[in-house]
Amino acid sequence: MAGRIPSTFIDNLLNRVDIVDLINQRIPLKKAGKDYQACCPFHDEKTPSFTVSHEKQFYHCFGCSAHGSAIGFLMDYDNMSFVEAIEELAHQAGVDVPREGVQNTGPDCRPLYAALEQAADYYAKQLRNHAQAQHAIAYLKQRGVSGEIAKDFNIGYAPPGWDNLIKQQGQDAQALKQLRESGMTLESENRCYDRFRDRIMFPIRDHRGRTVGFGGRILGDEKPKYLNSPETPVFHKGRELYGLHEAHKALRKIERLLVVEGYMDVVALAQFGIRYAVATLGTATTSDHLERIFRTAPEAIFCFDGDRAGRDAGWKALNTTLPLIREGREARFLFLPDGEDPDTLVRKEGSDAFEQRIQNATPLSQFLFDKLSEQVDMSSLDGRARLDELAKPLIAKLPQGTFREMMEEHLNKLVGREAKHVAHQPVTASRRQQPRLRQNGLERMTPVRWAIILLLKQPELAQMPDLPTRWEELDKPGVDLLAELLHTIQETPSLASNKGALFERWRGRKEGQYLSKLANTELPAHEYAAEFKDALMHLQKQLEEQLQDQLLEQYRQGTITEAQYKERLRQRYPGR
Ligand code: UTP
Ligand code: MN
Repeated sequence: MAGRIPSTFIDNLLNRVDIVDLINQRIPLKKAGKDYQACCPFHDEKTPSFTVSHEKQFYHCFGCSAHGSAIGFLMDYDNMSFVEAIEELAHQAGVDVPREGVQNTGPDCRPLYAALEQAADYYAKQLRNHAQAQHAIAYLKQRGVSGEIAKDFNIGYAPPGWDNLIKQQGQDAQALKQLRESGMTLESENRCYDRFRDRIMFPIRDHRGRTVGFGGRILGDEKPKYLNSPETPVFHKGRELYGLHEAHKALRKIERLLVVEGYMDVVALAQFGIRYAVATLGTATTSDHLERIFRTAPEAIFCFDGDRAGRDAGWKALNTTLPLIREGREARFLFLPDGEDPDTLVRKEGSDAFEQRIQNATPLSQFLFDKLSEQVDMSSLDGRARLDELAKPLIAKLPQGTFREMMEEHLNKLVGREAKHVAHQPVTASRRQQPRLRQNGLERMTPVRWAIILLLKQPELAQMPDLPTRWEELDKPGVDLLAELLHTIQETPSLASNKGALFERWRGRKEGQYLSKLANTELPAHEYAAEFKDALMHLQKQLEEQLQDQLLEQYRQGTITEAQYKERLRQRYPGR
């Protein structure tokens, strides 16, 4: 067994390799300031938020939070294990990886992978050659599985008998131990026998194509219908997705993943040209699954039976998905007619019709609101209040961002509430068209200047109730002057009707000249109050952006850690 890699070696190795070169070999990077940028390889985006720092030898995506060192990048991008990534970097640096004498690493899993691979080969051969394979072949034929697709998925057959596999590859103690550890055998009363007997075998491959376990289907109606490998050091049901490796093999780029329930569903869909289906392995979809799904493709469509159980499973999947819906990720839900699964349906109606169903799948937002609306009486005030109560905790699970704001806005509409705070409106608020008055040449004016003009035109505006105040912290030219003007009028309301006196306050200061110049701007008669408030809100929004940018900059500079950055964002925006 290989010893542990000394951490000093890893430190030195990371000092020798350049993460910029490493990543640039795989994704072309563009210089941006002292860093490098590209569109993030780990999520779908159009403007680059993936940043590689030469100085820090670190990458970070501001869109999806993927981050790490050169080792981390190889692990995530090239699907390498930790040790493989180190070996790759050492190879590039032309050095050997030393191992410490102590054997305190986790178990070396390579023999398990090898044993499972060998078992998969064995089962595939038995499907072709075993004397009793005829009824297995007949079964697959009857279910419409083509030879070609059986080969793509390496489908096999475990012959009847207690010890076929053991005889084949478990003859010495070491080999038997590996069969046991990889979950291929069972023990009872000190006897060891094959777990899978007289079953169609579906090898489960991890995203790198290594066989990590099996699903075995009985040929008839006996129970259990499917037998799965137990959890082993290389197989975790909650992480693996059946068909993901095959999807990678068949498609150059995976645009979306269809998440179905069964092995046969994945196989049938693939046979009908829908190569992007994956199945969870008899478990609900976990967060680990979803992380993997969204790292593979920006869009996930969850497919369920149309019956009650299917709807419930869908709702569960929605709950697990909410915290993972970030910018550029989309989840939709597809409910099939009662009594159908993807396997039966795609065979019945063909791939075009099935793809059409995928096209029409229900967006997450719609599923969420539809499902909740069903539970309440939307025609009554009480019912709508109840909807509000039900939806809020769900929406709160979404990460802060445009999508969440849209959901909040939609909820407000459904329950008949006007959006109260501009801060809660969609981010488009800051890009919203300027107030109407600022057209015809005035549109280029900054909101500060615009607010000053309005205030000079109608100083009573300073007395409006509920004027926002936080914008005063904004670090922009003119903000201080605007605040001073506003406070001066608020403190001495009589100045509102005496502009001469008002300007006197700025005697001898260049701001005074500026104010009188602005006071001469021609404005059509208008209701200025809304415009004024709008301008201040606009400034407030700019302040939020400025504060966020400052935090980000501190983080980029290394003045604060990522944890501090996130913590401060959270303090500023509770719920993020
Ligand atoms: P289903 O019962 O829907 O089976 O189980 P299916 O996929 O339609 O199978 P066929 O078409 O009858 O062959 C869906 C999934 O649940 C898990 C399996 O992963 C199966 O693919 N399952 C089901 C088990 O693990 N054990 C079982 O006994 C049944
Ligand atoms: Mn089925």
